[in-house]
Amino acid sequence: MSTTEWWRSAVIYQVYPRSFADTDGDGIGDVQGIRAHLGHLRDLGVDAIWMSPWYPSPMADAGYDVADFRDIDPVFGTLAQAEALIEEAHAVGIRMIVDIVPNHISSEHPWFKAALASPDAPERDYFWFRPGRGENGDEMPTNWRGEFGGTTWTRTPDGSWYLHLFTPEQPDLNWDHPDVRAEFESILRFWFDRGVDGIRIDSAALLFKDPSLPEVVEGAKHPFHDLDEVHDVYRGWRRVAEEYPDRALIGEVWMPEVERFANYLRPDELHAAFNFDFLGCAWDPRLMRECVDRTLDAHRAVGAPATWVLSNHDVTRHVTRYGRADTTFSFDNNLDGTPVDLMLGTRRARAAALLSLSLPGGTYIYQGEELGLWENENIPPASYQDPMWARRGHSRDGCRVPLPWSGDEPPFGFSTADPWLPQLPEWKDLTVEAQSGDPTSMLELYRAAIALRRAEDGLHRPAMSWLDLGPEVLAYTRGDRFACVVNMSGSPIPLPDHETSLLASGPLDGDRLPQDTAVWLRLTA
Ligand code: GLC
Repeated sequence: MSTTEWWRSAVIYQVYPRSFADTDGDGIGDVQGIRAHLGHLRDLGVDAIWMSPWYPSPMADAGYDVADFRDIDPVFGTLAQAEALIEEAHAVGIRMIVDIVPNHISSEHPWFKAALASPDAPERDYFWFRPGRGENGDEMPTNWRGEFGGTTWTRTPDGSWYLHLFTPEQPDLNWDHPDVRAEFESILRFWFDRGVDGIRIDSAALLFKDPSLPEVVEGAKHPFHDLDEVHDVYRGWRRVAEEYPDRALIGEVWMPEVERFANYLRPDELHAAFNFDFLGCAWDPRLMRECVDRTLDAHRAVGAPATWVLSNHDVTRHVTRYGRADTTFSFDNNLDGTPVDLMLGTRRARAAALLSLSLPGGTYIYQGEELGLWENENIPPASYQDPMWARRGHSRDGCRVPLPWSGDEPPFGFSTADPWLPQLPEWKDLTVEAQSGDPTSMLELYRAAIALRRAEDGLHRPAMSWLDLGPEVLAYTRGDRFACVVNMSGSPIPLPDHETSLLASGPLDGDRLPQDTAVWLRLTA
């Protein structure tokens, strides 16, 4: 493993442990399953794994409701197994990133249980307990809308209300309290001491709330999005990270204003943050080019590496998105059930893989993306587990379905039991087994692209320059001899002069690049 600032150019693979591989036959993935399939990640060639939460949790929000940050939920295994995984990953050159959720904890966490037990408990101050409004205090302290939709306050038996920006089982922490800060710095050390190389920070911009609890007013300062105080917390975390060699902090920062976003990436704060601007961008050459420019400008200004993200456990899988008439993603445009052309979506997803793996910066792969999985939109609502469904009428379960490893029918080697969410029978052609060795498969495309990314000198250069091949083509060089061309127009285009085509997302048409296809070229010297 190279040691310097690895996060600047790493390929990071998100493992969603519930859905990776199950070894104990309960239909839910576990740590032993990840250890058993580490070879898949080694062969794929990724530099690091980001592990979605694996801590003890009542699973009100699939583990993003953490009851104990210093252990592993029994459904996933044990702390000793997690430590063994960290060691085994390191042995095959893969770094480990764990997910820390600082905005809220589980209502089953000992702090919250103590806070509920008595209005005088000191733990009350770790949360946002407030009296209600109205004569009998039976109106919520504010009318804030939660991040999953719905209300943000729940009343306790003693009559006071507590704040939760997500579900009632996820009470928000009070980050003005020094004990909260100290506790999280101690949690970071706990995992860094176990050799973890990085921390993914959940809902990183929400930690602080305006204590005067104003309503959300269009145009006015938001009462809980991106308050300035949050930066001081991350400066403290950066100091902790720097007590260890080569540790990275990666923020989940959803923020439309790029300048505000870049503030999180100043040299004494986080090392990187997910690029949701790119993730949500339409499959459109002008919008994509603008997004890439906006991204690179914002990151250059603070000296941070850009990141390129197409999918994660919260968003509609991009094969599905790119196969719709509206190819954007936002939680506000619920496109569930609108028509999807999966062939088109897959074709574009293949091109997008070459795009996201050749732009300068770090690239994130969500498990199953390397298999070309699409959203399972056939899950019966009665089987939905995601709390967002009840609060917002959209379920994230369709992108969280267990991976198909082998065989011709579900559970496709994922488990011996029925998977916790149903797989699609059509995925029989998309198992790791079926795709391995097939040069036309998505899996072999990802393997080849990641291997070339390591080998190609141009892809190690920090910058890129646009090539002008017309308004409907995204084309750029990295270094003197490498180019990536993505044809987003409606018809084939001639390729620029080149010595060799290194890798293409689909068959070329002689010397022409078909629509919705990308190619990596070695340019003529
Ligand atoms: C983040 C997670 C999401 C979770 C939410 C609350 O957005 O990615 O899965 O539901 O935070 O923790």
